[in-house]
This record gives sequence, structure tokens and C-alpha cells, in this order.
Amino acid sequence: MKGLIVYDSLYGNTEKIALSIGEALGNREEFSIMRVGNVQPDQFADLDLLIIGSPTQRFQPTPAISNLLKGIPKNGLKGVKVTAFDTRLTEEWINKTPVLAFFVRLFGPSAYAAKSMADKLKKKGGKLITPPDGFYVEGTEGPLVQGELERAASWAKKINPSLPKP
Ligand SMILES: Cc1cc2nc3c(=O)[nH]c(=O)nc-3n(C[C@H](O)[C@H](O)[C@H](O)COP(=O)(O)O)c2cc1C
Repeated sequence: MKGLIVYDSLYGNTEKIALSIGEALGNREEFSIMRVGNVQPDQFADLDLLIIGSPTQRFQPTPAISNLLKGIPKNGLKGVKVTAFDTRLTEEWINKTPVLAFFVRLFGPSAYAAKSMADKLKKKGGKLITPPDGFYVEGTEGPLVQGELERAASWAKKINPSLPKP
């Protein structure tokens, strides 16, 4: 099983979630966790599993993650199982900024990076293996809300049964 988690992280919170997901997936052969700057989209074609993680910034993934997704060729993820996750502000923090709260209500799930990343992965031919999800931070720099590392691990474990045994 060849798997890859690619993530971006400005303050380290998304990185912690990526590592928790990687650990929950078990120590599999040929499984890597890489920061976005160290990856090229042509490394994806022979993967069994690709997971992308990004902080939500201005309702979207980071520019580096968006560029990476754009760079995947048409049908470049054919036969690859895919999903995505983001980190995002809690409702309490969103509500501290009325403009942000307004747009979050207007856009619904599309106000966060995970759904748009999952849609793009599917558009490139990937097969969505589990619905995208978001993990909460208390304030722009974090920390993660208590329990989110464990929730990320549970999310990852939903992927496990559909993968070949380690
Ligand atoms: C420029 C910028 C824009 C942001 N916009 C949003 C946003 O639209 N919605 C949201 O929930 N959080 C937003 N945030 C908060 C980030 O989601 C938060 O900083 C991130 O989850 C932290 O993850 P990291 O430590 O991996 O960078 C924004 C943060 C930055 C720096």
C-alpha cells in the first residue's frame, strides 16, 4: 500500500492533525507524511491513498495547496483513494468577527477548505474514500480544541478497513 499525506500548516496545528492521522493509519510500508513544499503532483499517480490537509484561510486551502491541486494532470488520480481535511476556527471564534460569521452562514460547508479540496481531488479522478472533515482551533494560531487529535485519529480509522493490511 503506497500512501501519502500532504499538508500545509502556518502555525503547526494542521501538522499535528496530519501526524495523528498518519499514526492512526498504522506504520504501513511506503506511507509518508510530507509538507506541501516537498511534493510534486507527478508523485501522485502510483499512490493507493492520498490525503490532503490544509488550514482554512479566507474560506479556502492555502495558496500552496491550491497550486498543488491545480498542478495534478487531468485523470492524474485515477485509481487513487482520496480524502481531505482542514483546520478551522470554532464557531465561537468565527462569531467574534461578524463578516466572517456572515460568510460562513452563507457558504455553509463550502466556507472551509476540506470540501473544496475533496471536490478537486475527485475532479482529478480520485475516489473519495471517506467524507472530508474539519478540526477546530481556538483562535488563528491555535491551539487545537481539546480532543481534536483523537477525533482525527478516529476519522482516519474509518479509512483503514478499505486499505490492504499493513
Ligand atoms: C490569513 C488567514 C485567514 C483565515 N481565514 C479563516 C477562515 O476563513 N475560516 C476559518 O475558520 N479560519 C480561518 N483562519 C484561521 C485558520 O484556520 C487557522 O489559523 C488554522 O486552522 C491554523 O492551522 P495551522 O496552525 O496549521 O496554520 C484564517 C487564518 C489566517 C492566517
